[in-house]
Amino acid sequence: MELRSGTSFRLPESFIFDLTAGTMENFSQRIARCASDMRGGYYADETALEKLIAEQNNPIHYETFECDIPEELGQVKFCISKLYPGRVGGEYFMTKGHYHTLIETGEQYLCLRGRGLMMMKTSDGACHWEEFTPGRMVYAPPYWAHRSINTGDEPLISLCLYPGNAGHNYGDILTEGFPKRAMLRDGKLVIESR
Ligand SMILES: [Fe+2]
Repeated sequence: MELRSGTSFRLPESFIFDLTAGTMENFSQRIARCASDMRGGYYADETALEKLIAEQNNPIHYETFECDIPEELGQVKFCISKLYPGRVGGEYFMTKGHYHTLIETGEQYLCLRGRGLMMMKTSDGACHWEEFTPGRMVYAPPYWAHRSINTGDEPLISLCLYPGNAGHNYGDILTEGFPKRAMLRDGKLVIESR
């Protein structure tokens, strides 16, 4: 492969999505997170999480479909994120959330299907959330950790686009946690402080 300025040279190509199913036909990597992958304090009610794992045979929580675009400066990576609906002790299903390893990088999430929230926070405690509805694109700017939350009753499907060299940092947000939780209370979505 020819190299120019240290960034891999690639031929132009195209990718095919199934927007209803929330899948990519010619993906190179699929990552599936099961309910058991959410152990460790993401949800407030760990007992309810263990019950879900035992009674529903450790269901897939969310999955991503990615292409093999290199993780390097100048490339534009993307993935399809498919987060299933459900609750853990009243708390809506969510992704682990992450900062970017290169924290000066942002990300765009175009919601294709479903309903939910993008919960975002900074390391100094700012917190902000945006609604996901089909056709709405949410911007997670540099410095903001981000987590998707499915508040609907069908899969929440998003197309995510981010700089190739962004990287994923799951450790810091696991330590810090997000200041807010999305809960079902008396049939309604409520955003509660931890
Ligand atoms: Fe990200």
